[in-house]
Amino acid sequence: MRITNIAAYQQAYKKSVENPEQFWAKIASENFVWDKPFTKILDWNFNDYKVNWFEDGQLNITTNALDRHAANQPNTVALIYEPNEPGDDSVSITYKELLEKVSRFANVLKANGVQKGDRVCIYMPMIPELAIAVLATARIGAIHSVVFGGFSAQSIADRINDSECKVVITTDGAVRGNKKIPMKETVDEALVTCPCVEKVIVASRTHTPVSMIKGRDIWWKEAEQEVSATCPAEIMNAEDPLFILYTSGSTGKPKGVVHTCGGYMVYAAYTFANVFQYNPGDVYFCTADIGWITGHSYLVYGPLLNGATSLMFEGIPTYPDAGRFWDIIARHKVNIFYTAPTAIRSLMGFGDSFLENKDLSTLRVLGSVGEPLNEEAWHWYNDKIGKGNCPIVDTWWQTETAGIMISPLAGITETKPAFATLPLPGVQPILVDENGKEIEGNGVNGNLCIKYPWPSIIRTTWGDHERCKSTYFSTYPGLYFTGDGCMRDEDGYYRITGRVDDVMNISGHRIGTAEVENAINSHTGIVESAVVGYPHDIKGQGIYAYVICEHTPEHPDLLKKDILMTVSKIIGPIAKPDKIQFVSGLPKTRSGKIMRRILRKVAEGDVSNLGDTSTLLDPSVVEEIIEGAL
Ligand code: WTA
Repeated sequence: MRITNIAAYQQAYKKSVENPEQFWAKIASENFVWDKPFTKILDWNFNDYKVNWFEDGQLNITTNALDRHAANQPNTVALIYEPNEPGDDSVSITYKELLEKVSRFANVLKANGVQKGDRVCIYMPMIPELAIAVLATARIGAIHSVVFGGFSAQSIADRINDSECKVVITTDGAVRGNKKIPMKETVDEALVTCPCVEKVIVASRTHTPVSMIKGRDIWWKEAEQEVSATCPAEIMNAEDPLFILYTSGSTGKPKGVVHTCGGYMVYAAYTFANVFQYNPGDVYFCTADIGWITGHSYLVYGPLLNGATSLMFEGIPTYPDAGRFWDIIARHKVNIFYTAPTAIRSLMGFGDSFLENKDLSTLRVLGSVGEPLNEEAWHWYNDKIGKGNCPIVDTWWQTETAGIMISPLAGITETKPAFATLPLPGVQPILVDENGKEIEGNGVNGNLCIKYPWPSIIRTTWGDHERCKSTYFSTYPGLYFTGDGCMRDEDGYYRITGRVDDVMNISGHRIGTAEVENAINSHTGIVESAVVGYPHDIKGQGIYAYVICEHTPEHPDLLKKDILMTVSKIIGPIAKPDKIQFVSGLPKTRSGKIMRRILRKVAEGDVSNLGDTSTLLDPSVVEEIIEGAL
């Protein structure tokens, strides 16, 4: 399935558009183990949304990610775990060992009542047990819902309840940099409102004292001793759900994006092999947390499906200093490095002294994901990290697409700073104007849609198919709408310009404005708020909140701190506003709609052209907002 030159890419692309079914059927049947081969390839309809790939095929993704490599290359390292403390030993786990660990833990899950189709919530730091928990869940046909370790108790509870998880897997605590973070304690707080949870399995990481409830809470290590290290993989239908991953949209609560076994497996594996051009023996380091889609597809599943060696790092890029990534690359002789623009910009800001004496000569490919990679950061990454020798793959995709959609193939596609370049085979992008009319030709801007299903397209939003339909398939009937703006330049290269909806991208984390507003509004004494993103040098976007209070605050700075606490408590620290401006009113139209355009302009510090404000109910609030702008 590996494309090795640009002519082969062009040929594959052409085939994938002319006959997508044949194209994917060949890849799917020739590169994976199916317990029952599929005869149906694709059944789809973007209007009354439905997509089925390889529908009558049967498989288990872990047979493909583990068993076949454990048989063919048992001693190849599957996972390298680099702990938070640089002095602590890293751990290498071979395919043979990983299969045993996963099977053993799969038996623990079974022994605790987890069955095919049950939902399992995983709330853990970046330790091997996290990857093992994910794979063990998949092995028995249960559905994992990984919740990023930085989310609050309330966010965990919302996610657990939405998909009625039966079991939660967590740790006693976590360490990130020089911070100790409670995990079990946070889960306990969440579970007060989660009657569906029957068992909590706790892996030990920090030896922090935790409360263990009799009958409900179990230690991972103890439970493991009672089960065997072999567990046959459950045979799944291709369209059975594999996982749920919650992500923010422009309205309401985060939604549970559902991906299924067959299509996800094929697409994650295919894109990993081609975008990164992984060669046997390479060490691949993805810095994403498994709590996000990048960690799912390009730390766990994509690499393991390819028999690759994937490095997982528990800590943060700036601990013990801003040279940590470079130290890891040098020590583990990393060949392929995949990170986020926010990390690149932040490390660039620390200066080049942290690169001194770090041998980065093993690097061959650099990747970026999550937000636009601006030109300055691109050049620094290219010159200082890649030494001008490593192609940069700027990969555009989303939780909903589950795999990379627009990206160079490393060393094959000619790159251009700040461009995601060209669609992968099987991906048919289209730019449309506000009315959904296709914008043809090159040198144009529009809203990015995809007009044909690829194997790992979102299948539904958990428990609410209507929401999936209305969010992605109703703005432009017949098309999947990404929510992103995009330009296609004279060469037909794509450059993602950012979200065109009310989703912010803060350090590569997706956060809905409505979510933050709801959190702020729940603070005592707050009447209303409006939140917008604004350009931020390191984070890409920062959060700017305009807040109306019941009474003029006596201690505005104290109130701001309290609001930050509330947001942290309700969502998590990643959603804390960078700026809070108290206002007496918000710019609203006569129909009561907040004119965010104006708020965005003020937050950007660009008030020269606010556009038409004549439809505002009370234009004077704009003056006040401009005067008080931070
Ligand atoms: C943004 C992350 C520009 C985009 C995999 C998208 C990007 C959202 C890029 C999805 C990129 C992701 N260039 N923008 N290379 N990659 N984005 O669901 O706005 O966390 O819609 O998935 O991130 O974020 P998500």
